[in-house]
Amino acid sequence: MFSLLAAGAEVGTVNPWVAVAYLVAGVLFILALRGLSSPATSRAGNRFGMLGMLIAVVTTLVTHDIANIVEIGVAIFIGGAFGLVVARRIAMTQMPELVAAFHSLVGLAAVLVGWAAYLNPGAFGLLVPMDTIGTDYSLPMQISAVSKIEMGLGIAIGAITFSGSVIAFAKLSGKMSGAPILLPMRHVINLGTLVAIIVLTALFAMATGPEETFPLIVGLTVLAFAIGFLLIIPIGGADMPVVVSMLNSYSGWAAAAMGFTLGNTAMIITGALVGSSGAILSYIMCRAMNRSFISVIAGGFGAEDGAQGGGGGEQRPYKSGSAEDAAFMLEQAEKVIVIPGYGMAVAQAQHALREMTDILEEKGVDVKFAIHPVAGRMPGHMNVLLAEANVSYDKVFELEDINSEFAQADVAFIIGANDVVNPAAKTDKSSPIYGMPVFDVDKAKQVFFIKRSMGGVGYAGVDNDVFYMDQTMMLLSDAKKMVEEIVKSLD
Ligand code: TAP
Repeated sequence: MFSLLAAGAEVGTVNPWVAVAYLVAGVLFILALRGLSSPATSRAGNRFGMLGMLIAVVTTLVTHDIANIVEIGVAIFIGGAFGLVVARRIAMTQMPELVAAFHSLVGLAAVLVGWAAYLNPGAFGLLVPMDTIGTDYSLPMQISAVSKIEMGLGIAIGAITFSGSVIAFAKLSGKMSGAPILLPMRHVINLGTLVAIIVLTALFAMATGPEETFPLIVGLTVLAFAIGFLLIIPIGGADMPVVVSMLNSYSGWAAAAMGFTLGNTAMIITGALVGSSGAILSYIMCRAMNRSFISVIAGGFGAEDGAQGGGGGEQRPYKSGSAEDAAFMLEQAEKVIVIPGYGMAVAQAQHALREMTDILEEKGVDVKFAIHPVAGRMPGHMNVLLAEANVSYDKVFELEDINSEFAQADVAFIIGANDVVNPAAKTDKSSPIYGMPVFDVDKAKQVFFIKRSMGGVGYAGVDNDVFYMDQTMMLLSDAKKMVEEIVKSLD
């Protein structure tokens, strides 16, 4: 938030060095995104991003008389210390809710910058003379209509991002139920509120003087906070990852709108990068779940009866086995495909898993890892965990690259995954995950399924026919414990 405010205070610059510095920062942000697109280059990507942010913040601070440097130092220290503590404490599985919490701060910062610019336009260089072309400086000064539109948009998008992210955080962290809350006539209410925000922004742009503008900007701020809340409460279940990435995109557009208000190129570039990368990620995730973006934001997914707690009901027969059984069959296999999921992350089983695959490879078994785009609880979740355990990238495959190989696999080794291997996504039109592409584990000769109990369900809360297939052996245990026992049996 601080950097947003600090960068935001830069106004209508003509200094070419400032423009060059912001351009360099912008190029570094693009290199950061490029680096982050592969695990092998992600560290370098992070460094580019940090350097770009350092250049943008230092340039803003040294070239403008913004505020007392001691106050800024104290703010940096408090924000930095808070970020350090949170980053060290947070578990990988809590990352989506942390991201949602951070987006809420970006949204709030955009609202505060917009309000600061409205209340003190002179300090932000936003005052122009009251004549039609804004050049007669003998006339009283006011905020131009264009600046007011940018201000209104920035505040509106920022407020939507804030309240939407707070609800996403509450849902993801279990502080409120993840089930969709469906208000009657919600589409009419939402559409009406959005139209009202647009009308208020237009009236705000045309109004003059604080008596006219103040009630309008208050109205649009309140309605934007409300619509953020209304848009996210009906969204539930497996759509939350898309929502977080969509809010990421909104926060970028809010920052870009503020960049226009404040004439700050660094904010426009970063905002547009965040806005478009978040939108692209939302699109990729929608495609991975075979859902349309519109159906996700319209909400209501997973609200049908039976969408939650599908593990109940009549018990069907299944086979269960021990670590020794699994180790024996794994040793005999020629080709094993491992499908990790959220449970591997919870159990932190990735290191034991790497050890198991090393032993199998020494015994001549071909082992590959199959990663579903929405396995776990955040994009790239499984890739990060496997990289942490030093699993080589060339053994890790995306869904579309490996799905055809299950037909030749001796063993599909499912560890803590559930929804991403559920055939109901292909066959059961009433299932909340219908349409999501899933791994064809049923084509493998033998399936091992590690989970803690038959009662536990995946994120979408539905039963899974793979448990009951002839070739499936359930290995009911904590994932790390089970894999460690398999490793012992393999030795
Ligand atoms: P899930 O369907 O969530 O299944 C997790 C499985 O892990 C469950 O069967 C659970 O059964 C088991 N498990 C939990 N803790 C375990 C432990 N300590 N040891 C062994 N097993 C354990 O996982 P998935 O297949 O990875 O699917 C991901 C789901 O999350 C999708 O529906 C996706 O849409 C959604 N989602 C994804 C994201 C992103 S972006 N990746 C973000 C939010 C939501 P037990 O309880 O019986 O052990």
